Amino acid sequence: MAEEKWVVMVTAQTPTNIAVIKYWGKRDEVRILPINDSISVTLDPDHLCTLTTVSVSPSFDRDRMWLNGKEISLSGSRYQNCLREIRSRADDVEDNEKGIKIEKKDWEKLHLHIASHNNFPTAAGLASSAAGFACLVFALAKLMNVNEDPSQLSAIARQGSGSACRSLFGGFVKWNMGEKEDGSDSVAVQLVDDKHWDDLVIIIAVVSSREKETSSTSGMRESVETSLLLQHRAKEVVPVRILQMEEAIKNRDFTSFTKLTCSDSNQFHAVCMDTSPPIFYMNDTSHRIISLVEKWNRSASTPEIAYTFDAGPNAVLIARNRKVAVELMQGLLYCFPPKPDTDMKSYVLGDTSIVKEAGLEGELPQGIKDKIGSQDQKGEVSYFICSRPGRGPVVLQDQTQALLHPQTGLPK
Ligand code: DP6
Repeated sequence: MAEEKWVVMVTAQTPTNIAVIKYWGKRDEVRILPINDSISVTLDPDHLCTLTTVSVSPSFDRDRMWLNGKEISLSGSRYQNCLREIRSRADDVEDNEKGIKIEKKDWEKLHLHIASHNNFPTAAGLASSAAGFACLVFALAKLMNVNEDPSQLSAIARQGSGSACRSLFGGFVKWNMGEKEDGSDSVAVQLVDDKHWDDLVIIIAVVSSREKETSSTSGMRESVETSLLLQHRAKEVVPVRILQMEEAIKNRDFTSFTKLTCSDSNQFHAVCMDTSPPIFYMNDTSHRIISLVEKWNRSASTPEIAYTFDAGPNAVLIARNRKVAVELMQGLLYCFPPKPDTDMKSYVLGDTSIVKEAGLEGELPQGIKDKIGSQDQKGEVSYFICSRPGRGPVVLQDQTQALLHPQTGLPK
């Protein structure tokens, strides 16, 4: 390895994912092994994703990381586990153009600079750790020429954050809980790609939250320790639901999909209530959105909207198709209008063509009023994000998108 001041870097983009059958509870806290399988949908990275640049240079004196522009410590065991696992699989890297050769054995001595950025507000409480750890592992695997398939990489990302393993694929993804003690079979697999069910439209209502929420990590630990409902869920309920959900996804059966998605979200929150002390992730606005969707689905001949809530009050609504999504957006904007000083551009993010089609002029059509029922109190939504099922991680070839300076390896 020559001792000049070269910097080699890779930039990758990785999507976030939303579980439709939830992961809640670990059987091994260190390796992050779950007590049940889970299934998620990957969101279009154009709307929600993490961008990460990883770089290596003989001039770096220690591993460093910047998250959304701020330097953070890499000393936590989750980062350390991911870095160790990836380094141990690193291989020779040769860049003939630049005349750089890194041998397999060099990786142990070389240090890394990592910069990561979310294209959505971090404070939104949207699974940022999922996209973040998946992107870190994916980008490092490319930089270090790690010869593993995405499922094997998912087992490394899993050790950063459980839900991260599902962000290594696009479309619909299943995380097999696995049986082995070392976690080598606790990996994610793709069920179908993002083209399989591309009618779906996903609308996220980012709901303002006043309370500091219990983190998923400590929440699920408390549920494992205290909730009998969680034991029943993991043993009896989820195994059946997983099979039914796989069928529903394979057949694009929106009626079953909605039933399973909503029931599973509700059971997850029931488990939180059954935890001692109880954990409340949803708030009044979340509950109002559930009522709205339940009423809507009852008034339609077949269900048109599924809802799911993670460890926070935000609603993730999955509309059967674009026509339903446009109507739903009209109903949502009627019930949760932006504050007078908020313009529509900052109130509806992502695929804004939906809101354009929804049209904001004039009265809400009676048909939609009938579907949402009387919604007299105004709720508190900070903003909406419109998205759809999306692809898995990609390497970005355009060097101008790198978050680190190509000569210094420091944040731009
Ligand atoms: C409610 O993956 O954030 O979003 O593994 O401790 O990092 P750790 O937890 P995390 O938990 C996600 C829980 C969930 C459901 C899900 O994504 O399946």
